[in-house]
Amino acid sequence: MNRGLNRFAILVACATFFLIIAGALVTSHDAGLATSDWPLSNGQVFPKMVGNLFWEHGHRMVATTVGMLTIVLLIYILAKEKRSWVRKLGVFALLAVIAQGLLGGLTVKLMLPLAVSSAHATLAQLFFCTTVSLAVFTSRSWIEARRLEEEKGVLPLRYLCTAALVTIFLQLILGATLRHSATWDQHLPVELILAHVGGAFAVTLALGSAVVTVLRRHKGEKFLTRPAMIALSLLVVQLFLGVATYLVRQASPNDPQPLNPMISVTVAHVACGALVFVSTIVLTLRTYRVLPATKLSSSSTDYTDYFIESV
Ligand code: HEM
Ligand code: HEM
Repeated sequence: MNRGLNRFAILVACATFFLIIAGALVTSHDAGLATSDWPLSNGQVFPKMVGNLFWEHGHRMVATTVGMLTIVLLIYILAKEKRSWVRKLGVFALLAVIAQGLLGGLTVKLMLPLAVSSAHATLAQLFFCTTVSLAVFTSRSWIEARRLEEEKGVLPLRYLCTAALVTIFLQLILGATLRHSATWDQHLPVELILAHVGGAFAVTLALGSAVVTVLRRHKGEKFLTRPAMIALSLLVVQLFLGVATYLVRQASPNDPQPLNPMISVTVAHVACGALVFVSTIVLTLRTYRVLPATKLSSSSTDYTDYFIESV
């Protein structure tokens, strides 16, 4: 285990979280078209940071910094890391941040179309997921983790966690589509709100079942119970923030411009959504690390076990 590499991976993950907040601030200030220019801003590398350009160009600067950090992380990984799949994940992180930067440019050039803006918001979460995974894989607790007992339950915990993770990801896509389908001065489409609220129920059910199962089957194992409790607490906060986001959004079309508390509450909802997602990723990865899969049939092949054990 290389402590320096792990610390650097944590730094990149934290910087990515900050970047997600910076991006959400662009959307909430309705600053996406503060300049319709890209890659320059109003023909300049460094424009005067006035008005909405502060948010738009500021976001580009934070994104550039994260892009550079990702390059350094990849070099660090290639120099210190022996596991080939971690090296490949480092390459993937770089490709993802490049694609994300291009999508950001495209959304400006095409004047913020729903599909591109939602894809930009969704890929941001996937990139965050990648940097957090790199921090997990290079950590001491991952490398020194010991195998736990075969599960007694009918359904293997790792599948419950994977189901929760997929549900959350679908909910993030729904949230992004909802968010980008109306600006602050328009009402949000009712059918998308209903779908997103339905998604919140589905996430609560899926993540709730996974967490309860962790606590029932592996009570004393902090390696699993800690991320499980963090994910559940964040989900509770996220549900309250969701309702608050809806209420402040309802009032916003009457405002002369995007105002607080609409901006801060909505940005907090986006940021907390990202945290619910990554804490569930940490939990899910850890279940794959320490728990054997209960074979569904004697002929079934567990490729994940093969993958983890071949590391
Ligand atoms: C490279 C890493 C990048 C990441 C992780 C990232 C992330 C994000 C996130 C999370 C949002 C908020 C989405 C939301 O609130 O729904 C956002 C918005 C935005 N980003 Fe980025 N971004 C990146 C790069 C860029 C670049 C290079 C540009 C260049 C122009 C850009 C332009 C924008 C714009 C215009 C918005 C507002 C979109 C809208 O209001 O519809 N982003 N970004
Ligand atoms: C499992 C719980 C939830 C998660 C993980 C979640 C996640 C998200 C995310 C990530 C976004 C923004 C996506 C982006 O642009 O990147 C969003 C938007 C939104 N969510 Fe949720 N959400 C949840 C529950 C709720 C609930 C219960 C409500 C209540 C009605 C709600 C209302 C909204 C609204 C109104 C928006 C659009 C915000 C705007 O741009 O004004 N969410 N959600």
